[in-house]
Amino acid sequence: MEQHVKVKFPSNIALVKYWGKHGNQLPCNASLSLTLSNAFTETSVHFSEKTSKETEFSYLFEGTENAKFGQRVFNYLQQQPEFSTLLSDFAIQIDSANSFPHSAGIASSASAFASIAAAFLKASGNYSEENFQQEVSRLARLGSGSACRSIYGPYASWGKLDGINGTSDDYATPVLEIHDNFKTMRDAILIVESEPKKVSSSVGHGLMKGHPFAEARFQQANTHCLEMFSTLKSGDFEQFIQIVEREALTLHAMMMTSLDYYLLMKPNTIHVIEQIMQFRKDTKFPICFTLDAGPNIHLLYPSTMQKEAQLLIDEFLANKNVESVLYDQHGTGGIIL
Ligand code: PMV
Repeated sequence: MEQHVKVKFPSNIALVKYWGKHGNQLPCNASLSLTLSNAFTETSVHFSEKTSKETEFSYLFEGTENAKFGQRVFNYLQQQPEFSTLLSDFAIQIDSANSFPHSAGIASSASAFASIAAAFLKASGNYSEENFQQEVSRLARLGSGSACRSIYGPYASWGKLDGINGTSDDYATPVLEIHDNFKTMRDAILIVESEPKKVSSSVGHGLMKGHPFAEARFQQANTHCLEMFSTLKSGDFEQFIQIVEREALTLHAMMMTSLDYYLLMKPNTIHVIEQIMQFRKDTKFPICFTLDAGPNIHLLYPSTMQKEAQLLIDEFLANKNVESVLYDQHGTGGIIL
């Protein structure tokens, strides 16, 4: 029987970073992220009757064939037993589109795999209503680790943490106790360079194997996660800022100190970071930065600080430290359309 499923899942920005994995996409440390809202992937999957015995599969990204990512998606789908009947019994056509530009410092594999996992799980019927989200999260993780956190919002954590009930290495869970201070967060993504990533995150994760600082880093991240749980609950901006910025710089420090070292920050990344720190020192406004695995800066602030943050952003644009800005904010996770 023909079937059509359409879903929409957002990206997320890690406040405590996942960097290093083992086994089948299991994290070496816990991570915690802010779910975004404007940066999302919409995926439609059409399941129709097969015309031959061969596999019939096509993947279109924004209307055109993307052979490389299509192959990655196909390999991923083939590896999940939950989807084997769909793959063997139907001709499958996937149409995916992002609401945000490429190479913009937004994790597109997170929203892409969250949406693919959700669409296929929904179509497969291999779930119960109570465990649908958890299963989407687990299956999304197997496509791209950070994707498992895009299921819930405004905050999700992934990775077993002693003392926090329900946390798991297999899937993400929502962070439930959030102080009003952190309920309406904004993320202005300051694009200093929009070129594709020089080093993929899977290579980066791999470089944590045998990294001289690996163990200390994994422990630090777990501690940061626990601290972030209590910070989000208490509403302490100062502690939030310290953890978030330390995490961003540590992520890049890991890249710079791996055996095959590399550097993703650009002169304007550093300039902008210094300006943000100075601005905060001068004004005491709770505005801070984080980085993903790239040179672009995520400026984080509560929605009450929009006017103040805009002053800073306008200065970066006027001085050409930043090419463009994508405005985003806390989101609630994905939906089946
Ligand atoms: O999910 P991956 O394999 O693309 O790795 C994501 C890694 C970071 O974005 C740098 C950190 C994170 O936790 O999202």
